[in-house]
Amino acid sequence: MSKSVLHTSLCDDLKIEYPVFLAGMGVKGNATPPKLVATVSEAGGMGILGCSWLDADEVRRRIRAVRNLTDKPFGVDLLLPASMDESSVPDRAEMRARIERDFPKQAAFGKSLSEKFGLKPVQSQLAAMSPEFIRRQVDVCLEEKIAVFAAGLGDPGWVVPLAKQANMKVMGLVGNVRNAERQKKAGVDYVIAQGYEAGGHTGTIANFPLIPMVVDAVAPTPVIAAGAIADGRTVAAGLALGAVGVWVGTAFLLAEESNIFPRHQEEIIKGAAEDFIITRAYTGKTARDYKNDVIKAWDESGLKTLPMPLQGVLMDDFIAAAEAANRAELINNPVGQIAGMLKQKRPAKEIMMSMVHGAEEVIERLSAMRK
Ligand SMILES: Cc1cc2nc3c(=O)[nH]c(=O)nc-3n(C[C@H](O)[C@H](O)[C@H](O)COP(=O)(O)O)c2cc1C
Repeated sequence: MSKSVLHTSLCDDLKIEYPVFLAGMGVKGNATPPKLVATVSEAGGMGILGCSWLDADEVRRRIRAVRNLTDKPFGVDLLLPASMDESSVPDRAEMRARIERDFPKQAAFGKSLSEKFGLKPVQSQLAAMSPEFIRRQVDVCLEEKIAVFAAGLGDPGWVVPLAKQANMKVMGLVGNVRNAERQKKAGVDYVIAQGYEAGGHTGTIANFPLIPMVVDAVAPTPVIAAGAIADGRTVAAGLALGAVGVWVGTAFLLAEESNIFPRHQEEIIKGAAEDFIITRAYTGKTARDYKNDVIKAWDESGLKTLPMPLQGVLMDDFIAAAEAANRAELINNPVGQIAGMLKQKRPAKEIMMSMVHGAEEVIERLSAMRK
């Protein structure tokens, strides 16, 4: 069988058929469950397990669950802190106490939310993300020798030599040229350039300027394009801008294999592109989420956002209360602007192959213009 016109150098390097990734999405593991990861890898792309908030044992369990479903390569995405040297971060109870002490207005706002939306207060049992917690997650990835390690935030410099020893490729996600240069210096194998259009944490620069600028800045390190890629046209555009692969989040949130809240999938299907807005309300860092009444309440409060991870700690108790009451409409739903184009749930393989075949057609159409 002849190779697809999409078969870039990345495909040979990573031993995959198509340069299409299921982006690591760390919403408690529900956005990238093992079945979805394995399906994308089986279809010839590469699935990435989003594991940021999962403890090391759960990361291992999920890696093994993917291995039970496929022998194709896959990866893990984690959020790394800017530095692993910071003095040890306190646990969730200590962070709650710190918010009460240093940020009483924000603490009062957090408590008032449950009352405003008629929820019984609940305390989140999520582990706090400390350097130690993250180091244990990374150790599991190294021990399990996954194919790809992706770092969503922070500096992967300390992971690179360890990953190389374990024969793993390292990818670093960036939203501007400065961070791309930092990733290159850290020695990553691939830089993922993620534009402002994307779902989840995002920067301020749109993909049209970002991708070519990052490609130029980090050459010869190859670049993967992320943000608003969901069909053949957008895959081809990412490659046209100089990327060797595409990193797809939002489009796979509507996969039948996804485990996000059905209510969140409805918001994606019904939402127009402008309904997916930038907010710091849930995590303290700018993120693109579906607009909701909680974001509105935060904006109206006029309060200053707490630094990461404190804003997350402030909001996690409210999220736990909303989860307990099955009120998904109050929980953050990170989604990109391209959702405005997505209108139905489909099997992941169909989502992936329609991007691949659509891009092949676009490239053929463009090549025919020369004749
Ligand atoms: C629900 C959701 C959760 C995400 N979680 C993470 C994460 O934990 N780590 C990370 O590196 N990127 C995360 N991202 C960003 C994706 O990796 C990816 O870059 C982005 O989804 C690409 O843009 P798109 O949503 O327009 O496809 C998340 C994105 C979404 C939509």
